[in-house]
Amino acid sequence: MTQAHHPIEIKPAKGKLGILMVGLGAVATTFVAGVEGIRKGVRKPIGSLTQNGHIRLGKRTDHRNPLVKELIPLADLNDFVYGAWDIFPDNGYEAACKAGVLPRDLLDKVKDDLSVLEPMKAVFDQTYCSRLQGTHVKTKTNKMELAEALIQEIAEFKKKNNCDRLTMIWCASTEAYNTLSPSHQNVKSFEEGLKNNDPRISPSMIYAYAALKSKIGFANGAPNLSVDCPAMNELAKEMGVPISGKDFKTGQTLMKTIVAPGLAARYLKLTGWYSTNILGNRDGEVLDAPENFKTKETSKLSVLDSILKPDLYPDLYKDLYHKVRINYYPPRGDNKEGWDNIDIVGWMGMPMQLKIDFLCRDSILAAPLVLDLVLFMDLAHRAGMRGIQEWLSFYYKAPMTKEGLEPVHNLFHQEMKLLNTLRYMMGEDQITHLGIEYYQE
Ligand SMILES: NC(=O)c1ccc[n+]([C@@H]2O[C@H](COP(=O)([O-])OP(=O)(O)OC[C@H]3O[C@@H](n4cnc5c(N)ncnc54)[C@H](O)[C@@H]3O)[C@@H](O)[C@H]2O)c1
Repeated sequence: MTQAHHPIEIKPAKGKLGILMVGLGAVATTFVAGVEGIRKGVRKPIGSLTQNGHIRLGKRTDHRNPLVKELIPLADLNDFVYGAWDIFPDNGYEAACKAGVLPRDLLDKVKDDLSVLEPMKAVFDQTYCSRLQGTHVKTKTNKMELAEALIQEIAEFKKKNNCDRLTMIWCASTEAYNTLSPSHQNVKSFEEGLKNNDPRISPSMIYAYAALKSKIGFANGAPNLSVDCPAMNELAKEMGVPISGKDFKTGQTLMKTIVAPGLAARYLKLTGWYSTNILGNRDGEVLDAPENFKTKETSKLSVLDSILKPDLYPDLYKDLYHKVRINYYPPRGDNKEGWDNIDIVGWMGMPMQLKIDFLCRDSILAAPLVLDLVLFMDLAHRAGMRGIQEWLSFYYKAPMTKEGLEPVHNLFHQEMKLLNTLRYMMGEDQITHLGIEYYQE
């Protein structure tokens, strides 16, 4: 253990927390349906660290294991208010029925809570999402004016719903591949870019800009850049708000970052890792477009290198062939199937194979991450933690880090980072798992 310090000052979680979701599709509606179901006692909050997790404090012999939500002041689920934008006008109930993630009888138990959720008109640009044609879209054409319209809507939402605080999360479709351009370099160039309608500024960046300007945090559940650029980092720090991303770590990549650290810990050689998915929801349809898949592919491919470290272990991992495919296959809907074939080489060069067939449910895995992220982003905001929140890497496929700092992908290191951050915030000792002190007493 390392020594504790003074706790960080955290403002209390009083009053209503407004959760603004960009995109009211499968993930967003499954999140809302789940939270409302939990509040009504219909289901338990399975899959959520904030709702289930205990955290060890002090020595193993101290037997102090409070619930995370008892240790730190998180917002109460009863204080949630929801807002959303979507390119379709369907309310939350209609959207949830179309998404087809949860059965109708279960959705009907929270029908009223979902039906009142009417999306606001979206900021949408089809060049970033060729497979969708929105009907419920803002008509302004200047990007700065669009940002200003969002800022106004955010302020109205806060007032109308009597919110104490707000947080925004991107649950909308993955945008086409985009790289950093001169507009993304700093706040000034970004604002110029907005005024001049720079085509490299995507809708997700306009939402992110509007959030940060309104002094609210922004979490990014998709792999598009959004807040992952120097301009947004600068703005987040300036406005004193947290940002985090990118891309919820659910199905196959979750498995990859669970299995790969184990194989690497045993110094087993890997020659191939072939991952393929079939899914038939709207996410799958959007990702069927090559320019949108490229954004996802980049995010999914990034995880193995930081876990396996081929530069340090060229004999074991330099020649690894890593391939990721996603195939749109409508019959499966949201019930994705992810296959992995892993070619392993062991002692004396003898080959082995590992096959993983994960019959998962995409939005069922993502919804509890949305819950934890909105709670932790709100916590970070109240604790004055501004800019990139690396401790939330646990939730993301392509964690954002400070420039020049390699992201951590190993799920167990991410978990330790998260729990130690909570201990740090509360002025508790860090837990290093050294354990030698028990034998020196
Ligand atoms: N479910 C998972 O396991 C998972 C994991 C990682 C990332 N994601 C990402 O989360 C996002 C949401 O996934 P989903 O399954 O809910 O998809 P979805 O297609 O069901 O929902 C996305 C919604 O966003 C809307 N939308 C698109 N562009 C918009 C814009 N500019 N403004 C407002 N709304 C917009 C769409 O109309 C749609 O209703 C996707 O980007 C997906 O890649 C999901």
